[in-house]
Order: sequence, then C-alpha cells, then structure tokens
Amino acid sequence: MPRCFGGVAGPSATMVHFGCGDDLGKGDFVRTIDWVDGRVRLIDQTRLPMEEVWLDLESVESLAEAISSLRVRGAPALGVAGALGVALAARLAREKGEDIGEAVSNAAELLASTRPTAVNLAWGINRVKKIHDPERPESVDELINEARSMVAEDEEINRLIGEVGVDMFEAGSRVMTHCNAGALACVAHGTALSVVEAAYKRGLVAEVTATETRPLLQGSRLTAWELGRMGVAHRVTIDSGAAGLIASGEIDVVVTGADRVAANGDVANKVGTYPLALAAKAKGVPFIVAAPLSTIDFDTPDGSAIPIELRAESEILEMNGIRLAPEGTRAYNPAFDITPAEYVSAIATEAGVVRPDELRSLLP
Ligand code: MRU
Repeated sequence: MPRCFGGVAGPSATMVHFGCGDDLGKGDFVRTIDWVDGRVRLIDQTRLPMEEVWLDLESVESLAEAISSLRVRGAPALGVAGALGVALAARLAREKGEDIGEAVSNAAELLASTRPTAVNLAWGINRVKKIHDPERPESVDELINEARSMVAEDEEINRLIGEVGVDMFEAGSRVMTHCNAGALACVAHGTALSVVEAAYKRGLVAEVTATETRPLLQGSRLTAWELGRMGVAHRVTIDSGAAGLIASGEIDVVVTGADRVAANGDVANKVGTYPLALAAKAKGVPFIVAAPLSTIDFDTPDGSAIPIELRAESEILEMNGIRLAPEGTRAYNPAFDITPAEYVSAIATEAGVVRPDELRSLLP
C-alpha cells in the first residue's frame, strides 16, 4: 500500500507537503488524528483502503473541509478535531499578532457548523474554547495543551470501552456492526470495534458482518480494513440486507457506535442503525451501543431534539460525478437516524455498561 504524506487545499490552506515518503505511516497504524508540529495531522479516510494518505492541516478552513467531506469522521474523532482546530486557530492568531479571542470564536463557529449531529464536535470545541482568557496570555498555551491532552485521553477512553463492553459477548459470537465505529472514528481503538477487538482477543468472536454504509461505504472500506488488520474473520453486506440477515438467525449480537445519546437513552447513529435495532429486538438479539461519556448529551431530552445532518443530494443522485437518477429527481439524504431507547439493550461506556434508562447513574 502506498503511504503518502500530503496537504489538502482548503479555502485558505497551504500545501505543506505532497508526495509519498518512507518516514511516515510505517508499522502499525497509531492515531487517526493528532497534533504534530503545531498542525493537525490526520489520515484521509476518503482514500482508504487503497491509499494511506496523511494530511498536515495548517488552517481551520482546511480542517473544516476535511470534516465536511468525511476525511475525518466518527464522533470521538470529531471531538478531538474540533478541539485541535480551535487550538490551531489560537496558535495562528498569536503568531500573526491577530485578535486571539476573535480567531477562537470564528474557528469554533465554523467547525461547529460542519456536522451538527455528533455532539462530540461541539463538546470538544467548547471544552477548549472556554480556556482562552484575553487577560492571561498564557491561556493560549493552556488551551493548546488541553486540546493535545484530549488526544491521549480519547485513546485511553476507547480502550476502556472495549474492556468494559467485552463481558457482554459470548463464545462464538457472530457480530454485526454498522458504519465504522473503529479506530478511524476515534483517535485509536474505536468504540464498537474496541469491544469487538477485546472480544476477539478473548477468542469470543466467530465472525463480524459489517454493513456497507452510506454515503462513502464506511463499512466496506474502513471497518473491513480495520477488521482485516486485526485478523478478524469478516464479511460485508448491503445495508438493505442487514435486517433480513438478523432475522435469519445468523447474527448473535449487534454492536454500533453513536453520534449522540439523548438523556432518555435514544440514540442517533449512522442512518440505517434503526432498522438493525428493530430487527434485533424482533429476533431477541442484543443491540449494544458503545460510546464514550462525551457522546451522552444530558441537555438533549430525547431523540426528537437531536438535529439530523442532511447531506448533499448529489451523494445519492450521482456517482463519481456521473448522474444516476433522472434529471429533476430530488433526494433525501440524512446522515443519521434515531433509535428509540426501547430498542437498545445496553450502552457501553468507559464508566460501565448501563441500560438506556440508567444513564444518569453514570453522572459523577
Ligand atoms: O457519517 P459518519 O461516518 O461520521 O458516521 C459515523 C457514525 O455514525 C459512527 O457510528 C459514530 O460516529 C460513532 S464512531 C465511534
């Protein structure tokens, strides 16, 4: 696999490197996103699995572009991306002698507007944004350090989710997962795939079925790539075949991630999650959601209050720029759907596994 290291051109981005180098990406894949030399480094998920391309982003606009176009995606990774983006804005403004408070607010606003459903994005942005204090110049370094600390924190939290969630698996489990809730959706390990990885290491996993997933085949491209690297037996199925597969008795447990869990336990996750939960309930198959505490939004009472991101119609109506549907046909292209709490068997977090109606027990 070619391993490349490049820059991406956003509205005000500077191309910093381009081409393939021998120095990066060697050995095991480490972190999906990180802060390196004052820039945001991330793996371009739109290029996987054919190419492993790392981008060094040195403008907030190029990071916003990377988020909107799913170069970086997945709720926990978005939380870290938001925090690092605000840190980047503060660093650049200080270097250029610009108003740091204004740069931080503008970056926060731009980044938060890119993807509304994943609550981690706003959570990550707000966590670092509030550190800036115009009266204290040293607060810029504190802000940057906080954002950087979130990278390692995310890694540890997701490792813990696997450790905690693994107890729900039985020997010989035939698992289904949706979209990509793996290392690529976080800094490392993943949420749903962290549980799968921990179960696999204990010899509990017979096979994983990954759904294809809209709009960019996150399951076929990313989840399959991660499962292959782990050595887990796996296959891919079409999204519209997944509920039928559960009904046929070929799946023992469904485990997904979440973009936001409302206070009542309703779950927003990649569109197509809801039918899996319905089928799982009908068949008596456990439906487990694996998510960090930062994905639980106690300020959102239930799923009806979660904003659902609507993506460009062209993602459905065209393929590689070629029109598929007749001219004039419109498209409805939601990125997420809501699974009511009653269909969720358990939520696995770094602080323990709870039923959806027990979420408040996780609060300190
Ligand atoms: O549109 P995406 O690819 O960002 O959607 C991602 C998902 O729905 C994931 O399941 C969710 O973010 C959890 S990632 C650990």
